[in-house]
Amino acid sequence: MPVNVPRRTVISASVAGSAAVVLAACASEPEVAKTTPPSATVEDSGESLSGEVLLGLAADVPVGGGTKFKLSDELTVLVTQPRAGVFRAFSATCTHAGCIVTGVQEEQIACGCHGARFNTDSGEPESGPAQSALGKIQLEVRGAELYATI
Ligand code: FES
Repeated sequence: MPVNVPRRTVISASVAGSAAVVLAACASEPEVAKTTPPSATVEDSGESLSGEVLLGLAADVPVGGGTKFKLSDELTVLVTQPRAGVFRAFSATCTHAGCIVTGVQEEQIACGCHGARFNTDSGEPESGPAQSALGKIQLEVRGAELYATI
């Protein structure tokens, strides 16, 4: 037995569903968020972080790969380890159109939205539509932990 749904409701649901698919394609990946920032300063809005932030463990970042750490809705940090013991941190926001990069694929930082690729050591664009480097973030490895200065 068919359900009687007003036409406007169906169209709205369809548009919302399409938007969700587009947003899902550009959204951050679920592997993130191992972050608890005990030393971060949380400002009045509750959204902004500043100062030194504990990202997580260096062991969570594979050699030749990268791991994303979501600090807030506005900031996800990608930490790479291009060579054993060498760590780099970048804003995970793609400089082309603002998607969160997918991660490290085939020794490059990859953005799944339009195919930009960045160097895992410098953050410089290497192919695709991005024209500028990912934003560098100061990173310190202290013992087994990774600290970013935001
Ligand atoms: S937003 Fe990353 S390639 Fe377009």
